[in-house]
Amino acid sequence: MRLVILDTAAAVAEWAAKYVMKRINDFKPGPNNYFVLGLPTGSTPFGMYQKLIEYFKNGQVSFKYVKTFNMDEYVNIPREHPESYHYYMWNNFFKHIDIEPQNAHILDGNAPDLVEECNKYEEEISKAGGIELFIGGIGPDGHIAFNEPGSSLVSRTRVKTLAQDTLEANARFFGNDISKVPKQALTVGVGTVMDAKEVMILITGTHKAFALYKAIEEGVNHMWTVSAFQQHPHTLMLCDEDATLELRVKTVKYFKALSNVHHKLIEEDQPIEQFWRIH
Ligand code: GLP
Repeated sequence: MRLVILDTAAAVAEWAAKYVMKRINDFKPGPNNYFVLGLPTGSTPFGMYQKLIEYFKNGQVSFKYVKTFNMDEYVNIPREHPESYHYYMWNNFFKHIDIEPQNAHILDGNAPDLVEECNKYEEEISKAGGIELFIGGIGPDGHIAFNEPGSSLVSRTRVKTLAQDTLEANARFFGNDISKVPKQALTVGVGTVMDAKEVMILITGTHKAFALYKAIEEGVNHMWTVSAFQQHPHTLMLCDEDATLELRVKTVKYFKALSNVHHKLIEEDQPIEQFWRIH
């Protein structure tokens, strides 16, 4: 696992966007070679999407041969609801770039058969050749996607009942009225994300500091599902200074000492495969 510590949440957004752009461009996607990206919603990745839109508009990256799979979606809220993840993705990202709508996959929380919807999603990911880069955010309780505490660390895409902590954290999006927050969601499993070739997790803010500590300084534990990524061969965590507050000074110093190496990940002349071979 690599931890890249940046000064601010804005710097995390920019670094993440540069990395996504570089991975897509290095891959040289084409009609027979789509780049497959896993995507999160939430306030944390918002700045990354804005930067990617900017790079697209500058002609630095194209999404024409990119397929995306979103991590999760609420059950039973209309697609056009401003808090649905469909609405978030289309308004904050997809409508501003050149992705073909049929290549942007999001779980349908209104499907007549939710179990079938989840199974179909797993099949679609396999059919696309698996996910090259899965980007994730986490909740303050260390959940990734909607894999709430206690979720199986080998779980696949499925229906989940949301934890009280998550309902409380998300109430701010529903007029601070917890009764309006959907109680269930569809989510990719921890195992689904683990299957990606590479995973990049964005963690910013003091309210995520304890989760970051649990994610990297303690053992793998299903009560902090993000900790599972200690066992993934290529996990990259990006955080801001605020999110490091619960880490040991030694841990922070260790990763900061590697920052020159980690910045090579977004330098234009170093292909990622080569980076993995030598660092
Ligand atoms: C929800 C989503 C997660 C997301 C998390 C954090 O729980 N299901 O996928 O990572 O919120 O959101 P934010 O970035 O707004 O803190």
